[in-house]
Amino acid sequence: MTEFSNRLDNKNKFKLGLFAINCASGLAVTKVNERWRNSWENNLKIAQLADEAGLEYLLPLGRWMGYDGETHFHSNVLESISWASALLAATRRIGVISTIHTSLHNPVILAKQLATMDHIGGGRVGLNMVCGWNRQEYEALGGELFFSHQDRYHHAQEWLDIIRKLWQTETPFDWNSKFFKFKKVYSVPLPLQKNIPIFNGAGSTLGKDFAIRNVDYLFMLTLDLNQLRQDIISIKKQEKLQKRKKPLNFISYSYVVCRPTYKEAEEYLHYYSQENADWEAVDHIIKLLANNSKVVPIEEFNLYRSKFPAGHGGYPLVGTPDDIVNGIEQLYNAGLSGTALTFVNYLDEFPYFKDEVLPRIEKCGLREHLAL
Ligand SMILES: Cc1cc2nc3c(=O)[nH]c(=O)nc-3n(C[C@H](O)[C@H](O)[C@H](O)COP(=O)(O)O)c2cc1C
Repeated sequence: MTEFSNRLDNKNKFKLGLFAINCASGLAVTKVNERWRNSWENNLKIAQLADEAGLEYLLPLGRWMGYDGETHFHSNVLESISWASALLAATRRIGVISTIHTSLHNPVILAKQLATMDHIGGGRVGLNMVCGWNRQEYEALGGELFFSHQDRYHHAQEWLDIIRKLWQTETPFDWNSKFFKFKKVYSVPLPLQKNIPIFNGAGSTLGKDFAIRNVDYLFMLTLDLNQLRQDIISIKKQEKLQKRKKPLNFISYSYVVCRPTYKEAEEYLHYYSQENADWEAVDHIIKLLANNSKVVPIEEFNLYRSKFPAGHGGYPLVGTPDDIVNGIEQLYNAGLSGTALTFVNYLDEFPYFKDEVLPRIEKCGLREHLAL
């Protein structure tokens, strides 16, 4: 049987992808006119550009409900599975990931959807599982699927165990556990990839423990480099104790404002993320996060608020191409093996990043030239 390879499995020390191109405004909570339009045409164009440039993955955000404000931030979001299926058919080498809320998707149906997508893309699909945080969003969808924090991860464990079993055997099996009871289930065809890459977006101790036990990539928030470094060191200690076979990879997300001079980059950052921020939407999100999520410590919320519009809590990569490479080296040295990039307008700004930043990252040895 042919071994299919996902570009995510390549040898690059620092893997790059695009994040949130499926969402109106991407991750910039801004009112500027040039903010991202998530039309299908734009998604297709930027996905093909990223593929040609050699990026490893495209990662969507999973959202079922927006955050109001003048821009109706994240009310307009393309659904992750249909989006990824179409992009897998329209690209050649790049990994395309689906972001999935565990309790909103029946695992048997999802296993088959992802296997189908893997066939469509010739072995390039990935799964980013999120266990959920926004009670309001779950209540809108019926409520009873929003479990206690602990139960969210118990549920996710059973959910993932079922999916993995379905991907490993064509033989029907029964399943009987706390959250799932299935009779004679199977999912044929199996995926092309032996191991579909699995990401988990999480921040709590429970979430990190889940990632250590189960997934390939922990998708993290980077508020502070020292904190990130400490977090990764302590997770690696846990990994050793738990005798993981392959090391866990750590990735974050970062917003890019890259211009020929630092002054230009800083001025544009201020223009879109302070003078023209959609503060009503920002405050709505911050309030929801404060009430529902453990990812950001409560005492850091005010500082977090002022930086939030630039990239939804992402890490700043702001300045000249050399400054961006410097920032990426710092992320690498803190222990990350990649970051998912966002731009105010991906199509306007990614070509400059591709021409000026990618060759510099290759020069410093973190990536090889892998363009199509
Ligand atoms: C980097 C990152 C990306 C995430 N992406 C999404 C997403 O697309 N949709 C979503 O509803 N939640 C997303 N989440 C939230 C997670 O699902 C999770 O509920 C939240 O981080 C709380 O983490 P915890 O369960 O470990 O406390 C993301 C979290 C992180 C850290």
